[in-house]
Amino acid sequence: MRTTVSVIKADIGSLAGHHVVHPDTMAAANRVLAEAKRQSIILDYYITNVGDDLELIMTHTRGELDQKVHEVAWNAFKEATNVAKELGLYAAGQDLLSDTFSGNLKGMGPGMAELELEERPSEPIAIFMADKTEPGAFNLPLYKMFADPFNTPGLVIDPTMNEGFKFEVLDVYEGKAVELSCPEEIYTLLALIGTPARYVVRKVRRKKDNMLGSVTSIERLNLIAGKYVGKDDPVLVVRLQHGFPALGEALEAFSFPYLVPGWMRGSHYGPLMPVSQRDARATRFDGPPRLIGLGFNVKNGKLTGPSDLFDDPAFDEVRRTASVITDYMRRHGPFMPHRLEPTEMEYTTLPTIVEKLKDRFKKEEDVTKAKRSIYVGKGEETD
Ligand code: 13P
Ligand code: 13P
Ligand code: MG
Ligand code: MG
Ligand code: MG
Repeated sequence: MRTTVSVIKADIGSLAGHHVVHPDTMAAANRVLAEAKRQSIILDYYITNVGDDLELIMTHTRGELDQKVHEVAWNAFKEATNVAKELGLYAAGQDLLSDTFSGNLKGMGPGMAELELEERPSEPIAIFMADKTEPGAFNLPLYKMFADPFNTPGLVIDPTMNEGFKFEVLDVYEGKAVELSCPEEIYTLLALIGTPARYVVRKVRRKKDNMLGSVTSIERLNLIAGKYVGKDDPVLVVRLQHGFPALGEALEAFSFPYLVPGWMRGSHYGPLMPVSQRDARATRFDGPPRLIGLGFNVKNGKLTGPSDLFDDPAFDEVRRTASVITDYMRRHGPFMPHRLEPTEMEYTTLPTIVEKLKDRFKKEEDVTKAKRSIYVGKGEETD
């Protein structure tokens, strides 16, 4: 059976700041998805949240970018936004950049990762969802899962993985994509995806048979809206086992709390902390950036699960390290490299501040002269 797993998410408002989705908004989304299931538009669904992001996990047979499925998601976000407005939740409708739905959700604000697959007899998948970061945050773990034998021994010992994987990398500034074949082009791949703000791994395919192994959401809200309107908190769907990474290989990629852009006001680097569903709430400095992982099996379009993958003492040390890094990074205050670099700040309010100061900026010689006149008196400049 050909099934599509669509994970579509949006921040439609949250409790007490950019903190956590309110259950009443999830209930509103649930009513819309339950009706869509009754009408057989979708076959099954699961609703969850990470921090202030409402996550709709849906299965169907309609393929990617399907108008009806996207309309269901849009209506769910709209209904949830109405509840958010009634309750006066913070930033109600934050990620919905348009008022009317037209065709599909591309460019409208919500993020989506849709993976169409021919169901194997057993189809295990993991869905990773993060808050307070952006799509390129999955570059590093995707590299580890699908290209690094120190993370994924299957690349060495499983003949079906041995040929390697192809990475489809999108340049989010130019809107162009390139496919790189690994292991041969690993260095070229790393040259690009080491700049995660610009180059995002969108899809990974198994070389042997072109089978799709993972899909990442690639929407960057600030590039759509032209200004900072919240982070593009990303989602990632990964197929597991039988020629794809084992569940434990996929999870191992998150055993190091690497630095990602996002966090407070979308303007700081911080460690990505894998947490349980219970701890999927943004708190300290609106973070630190959080990741949840849910494991499912898909059979005839039905979702069995989930298992809350990071709800496990095996990840306690990772979380502890992330907390230590949090302290370390915070001590930089408003300084880089805790604060993002200027190119990334271009899409925030920082240019407005620089613009306001335009007339107060003096040419360097003038400043030097003025300064010298204080110390050596006018006309007495010496070198
Ligand atoms: P089991 O023997 O528990 O099935 O484990 C197989 C495996 O390959 C784990 O990665
Ligand atoms: P969100 O994108 O999660 O809404 O974060 C916005 C923000 O500014 C947090 O400080
Ligand atoms: Mg928010
Ligand atoms: Mg968020
Ligand atoms: Mg966001």
